[in-house]
Amino acid sequence: MRTLLPGEWIDGDVIVAAYYAYYLELIITMYADYKNMKEAEKDVTSPRCWFLPTYYSQAALADWSSLNFAQAAGFRDRYMGRLDTCEKIYVPINCDGHWYMLLVDISHATATIWDSLESPSRREKMINESLAILASLDFVLRQEARALFGNRFSFLNFQIYRQAGLPQQPNGFDCGYYVMKYMDSPCIVVHDSYQHDLDHARLLLALYLVQSPLNKIRRRLIQEARKL
Ligand SMILES: *[C@@H]1O[C@H](CO)[C@@H](O)[C@H](O)[C@H]1NC(C)=O
Repeated sequence: MRTLLPGEWIDGDVIVAAYYAYYLELIITMYADYKNMKEAEKDVTSPRCWFLPTYYSQAALADWSSLNFAQAAGFRDRYMGRLDTCEKIYVPINCDGHWYMLLVDISHATATIWDSLESPSRREKMINESLAILASLDFVLRQEARALFGNRFSFLNFQIYRQAGLPQQPNGFDCGYYVMKYMDSPCIVVHDSYQHDLDHARLLLALYLVQSPLNKIRRRLIQEARKL
């Protein structure tokens, strides 16, 4: 796991960058799995959050017809529970290689963009992507949502905001770490006192990877990492 070792980053190395992007997606999705597992320990009727895997937004932004997987029972059981108990939906999204989080809050009818590397050039694109994600939720959850909230309900009517005052990442490639921190509650990065320690962050990620009970692909990851 060379790219997760403290201080390791070979600038401009395309292969390393590609591996890094690939692992980042896996790690974010594993973290989402872990968070869903924690949610599942709650009482069935208590409010809960859904943490979607990275490939949800990838599919929603690429080609709607590929979203059918999200309606299948396997996906629903794993990532989306009962809509009536769902409070928030966490959707990690990749915008031109940069990860950010869309936090869909059902009770407040809002969708908030959490971005650790704000850039004017990405602003409009992120809003468009957020709208596409909301539309995809309508597509996947429409029947259930209408039965619960009435026929006029639509995720697309949700107000889109940007979360203000977020610390900005000190480099171009730590977005994945921030996206995972945004999944934590309370989310420590909103506090001004939060100091990002890059080496510590990577160490935590590496430890998490090694220890994760969900890490079915661990052996493969280690093998791949050795090749780097
Ligand atoms: C966002 O969507 C609008 C309306 O569809 C489109 O005109 C605009 O070009 C899009 N912007 C970006 C940056 O994708």
